[in-house]
Amino acid sequence: MSRIALPQYLANASVAPDLQSVILGLAEVSADISKSLAKGALAGILGAAGAENVQGEDQKKLDVIANDMIKEALAALPNVRGLASEEEPDVVPCHTNGNFLVTFDPLDGSSNIDINSMVGTIFSVLPHTGETAVTEQDFLQPGRQQAAAGYVLYGPSVMLVISTGSGVAMFTLDQDSGNYLLTEADVAIPSETNEFSINASNQRHWAAPMQSYIADLIAGKDGPRGKNFNMRWVAAMVADVHRILCRGGLFTYPWDSRKPEQAGKLRLMYEANPMGFLVEQAGGEVWTPEGKILDIQPAHIHQRVPVILGAATEVALCVDYHQR
Ligand code: AHG
Ligand code: MN
Ligand code: MN
Repeated sequence: MSRIALPQYLANASVAPDLQSVILGLAEVSADISKSLAKGALAGILGAAGAENVQGEDQKKLDVIANDMIKEALAALPNVRGLASEEEPDVVPCHTNGNFLVTFDPLDGSSNIDINSMVGTIFSVLPHTGETAVTEQDFLQPGRQQAAAGYVLYGPSVMLVISTGSGVAMFTLDQDSGNYLLTEADVAIPSETNEFSINASNQRHWAAPMQSYIADLIAGKDGPRGKNFNMRWVAAMVADVHRILCRGGLFTYPWDSRKPEQAGKLRLMYEANPMGFLVEQAGGEVWTPEGKILDIQPAHIHQRVPVILGAATEVALCVDYHQR
């Protein structure tokens, strides 16, 4: 069976050539990252880097390696105006004639690295034109304005999942040719589900509405929902959202009373927005208790946000518990 390769797919979808080059650049570097990941302990790249990122989180060696690889690849693309990363304190200006800004989480699910479990790379591409040197302010656009968003899941297969605003497509890396080949053209999330995803160990720290919503799911057939729910938690947003794009479900990383000023764990500009763009493009919903995540006006590049995403009916219900 002959499959459509990523460059052909982008051309068929009439994606602008300058945007194509950014997506292809990200695809290429992700294939290189997957090779490093596959070497694991043999290459001495597991374990801690011995430093903290701007968020005060301990960096893993692979967080730093993946960040440096993506940064170098993007900086080599003339269409990239600037970049922002989880692992970079400040935005990094690139080419003055570039039309795009890229934000990324180089390695999502870092706690999975040392246990040979799934991790990913998340990216968001924003438009930008203008004469002046790029600043953080230029990046602070609502997620709705993304020109493209996607992730690479480094699992048993390496998969690239992207949207340029007309649906979601999945590609699988062919290890023989090094090409990403189309394996799912029209991803759609069913509006109903009986599967949810949350780090339940934080339960006592959640706000009261989230406590009662999850309690009602866990009560199953005997509770107000009248049906049983299953739970899954990979501890890498990429992998949890990938499962939802494949078979449905609800994912949430809620507000937590331990750090009330932090508004959740996940970062708006390189986690919630790109994954949110994909989920909405697949027919799902993406909310914070106060409104749709893609409509949020970001205040800074490392801003955090509580996230509720996935099956449309279930997300609406969860949000309703918060707004009642
Ligand atoms: P990162 O590794 O990029 O810092 O992100 C990890 C995030 C997200 O991927 C995942 O959903 C969550 O942290 C896992 O958190 P827990 O430690 O609460 O499981
Ligand atoms: Mn992450
Ligand atoms: Mn990360």
